[in-house]
Amino acid sequence: MYIIITARPESAAFAVSELQKYDASIRPVKDLQAGVKLVYLPGGYEKLIADMPPFIFVRHMFPVQWYSVNAVTSEQFVPKLLEEVKLPEINDGNFSVQARGAVCVTTINELENALKQKGFKQNDKHPDWVLSLFFYEGKTEHTLYAGASSVKDNRSAWNGGARRYSKSDEGFISRAEFKLMEAVEIFQIKIPADSSALDLGAAPGGWSKVLLDAGCRVTAVDPGALDARLSGHPNLSYVCATAQRFFEANPHKKFDLIVNDMKMGMFDSVRIMLDAARFLSPGGAAVMTLKLAKGQGPGKINEALVLLRQKYRVTDTRQLFHNRDEVTVYLFSQPAL
Ligand SMILES: C[S@@+](CC[C@H](N)C(=O)[O-])C[C@H]1O[C@@H](n2cnc3c(N)ncnc32)[C@H](O)[C@@H]1O
Repeated sequence: MYIIITARPESAAFAVSELQKYDASIRPVKDLQAGVKLVYLPGGYEKLIADMPPFIFVRHMFPVQWYSVNAVTSEQFVPKLLEEVKLPEINDGNFSVQARGAVCVTTINELENALKQKGFKQNDKHPDWVLSLFFYEGKTEHTLYAGASSVKDNRSAWNGGARRYSKSDEGFISRAEFKLMEAVEIFQIKIPADSSALDLGAAPGGWSKVLLDAGCRVTAVDPGALDARLSGHPNLSYVCATAQRFFEANPHKKFDLIVNDMKMGMFDSVRIMLDAARFLSPGGAAVMTLKLAKGQGPGKINEALVLLRQKYRVTDTRQLFHNRDEVTVYLFSQPAL
């Protein structure tokens, strides 16, 4: 059994190593594209998705249930492909066809039409399951890989886990904004309107804007200035200080949500988050990025998570599509003993 995994290209080796930590006999077979690997899975796909280990770097994956080498026309293989991939029941929700590599649009259209003729409903924005295709163009062969699977098992509803947002929004403040938007989607973070949020390392204000848009009352802390478009927002208070100074000056404040995107080494950031735990209301949540210095990978992240568990429940850790040399961690306050 084979799967195709996708990770940030710079982290693809970490993605393979976390798969091999789960099962040492897993091995990468072929690089299909930067960050996209065909992987041999001796233990089988069903077992992998049942276990679904807490992968950090495997951003997206799909099972290869059928492949065809050097096929010439899609008439030759579309019926065969649909016979071989594991299509769900008609009432198991809406489908999308997601294709990558040297994409052949005609094949995609034919597959979409054939699925619709079978009675399946298409919804490319919010699919429940996906027919994933990878068109690989090698020097001597071209291969089409295909598999059908639920978006949950793919780890993302997006093609290759590439969640793209539009910058056309007038209020767009920083690229960092997308990191929190993606974290909210992937971790399914609930942000109740009128909750209080503390944004550590807030400047220029992308994360604060996401929280304000969700209806939060936001305290934004950063020695750097916020974007002028945020000034005067009735639900925003800006504190021009470091996080450490803010904590000293406000020992009794409580927040429902603490977010931290501070630019600093991951262990300094973890120390500040351990201190921040006393400002979190019972049942409160936190989101932070851990910045990876050169050479830092799963080992150091694991050390950081062990430290965070002193004060938090670590719910999920992922390298999201919008993370560069960093990962995003979703935390909860620990229940009182
Ligand atoms: C990546 S930027 C944050 C971007 C922000 N999340 C956004 O969406 O616009 C990192 C910020 O961390 C801030 N920072 C670094 N050390 C800090 C500290 N000790 N306390 C507070 N902020 C800090 C920097 O001033 C910088 O503005």
